[in-house]
Amino acid sequence: MMVRPMRESDIETVARIERDSFAHPWSRVAFLNELHKPYAHNYIIDINTPQSSDKIGGYACFHTIAGEMHLLKIAVIPAVRRQGIAEHLLRQCLQEAYDMRISAAFLEVRPSNRAAVNLYKKFGFDVIAVRPNYYSENSGQSEDAMIMRINLKRR
Ligand SMILES: CC(C)(COP(=O)(O)OP(=O)(O)OC[C@H]1O[C@@H](n2cnc3c(N)ncnc32)[C@H](O)[C@@H]1OP(=O)(O)O)[C@@H](O)C(=O)NCCC(=O)NCCS
Repeated sequence: MMVRPMRESDIETVARIERDSFAHPWSRVAFLNELHKPYAHNYIIDINTPQSSDKIGGYACFHTIAGEMHLLKIAVIPAVRRQGIAEHLLRQCLQEAYDMRISAAFLEVRPSNRAAVNLYKKFGFDVIAVRPNYYSENSGQSEDAMIMRINLKRR
């Protein structure tokens, strides 16, 4: 598995993984815009597994602003989940931020997203706040957002 910066030519595949992963996916244009923001960092992970003909196994997007890292996106192709791909990708992103002298990372997650919450807890992220009814659905229902934080260290 190899982590490398996202390129414009990756966006078609990234947007497809995004649609397979989120109820309210970012568009291709949204990813394209990220590639041009000086404070945005976008990575993909190259994989080679029998379950997927895609070379891109997943991606992560984060911002570094005012000495903080904000993880905006992390997703892995459904067919190759539970194989340590997100863990590898997230570790590289946190290391990258640490190398930029960023001291803490933050993210938002739905409490119902057990896979993501467990991933973040495995790294040592703590819940520092809850935003009530942060995510609203077309159905009229809503869900809280948990804000999680970790102090960065060498990985
Ligand atoms: C969350 C996601 C990125 C995890 O990717 P993954 O490659 O399957 O995760 P990994 O195999 O690296 O798992 C690492 C750890 O995460 C946790 N985890 C991952 N998938 C899990 C699941 N289905 N159920 C419970 N815990 C899970 C576990 O703690 C796991 O460690 P373990 O295997 O030692 O138990 C993936 O499920 C995904 O793309 N989900 C849709 C997009 C999404 O919700 N992104 C997060 C938005 S906040």
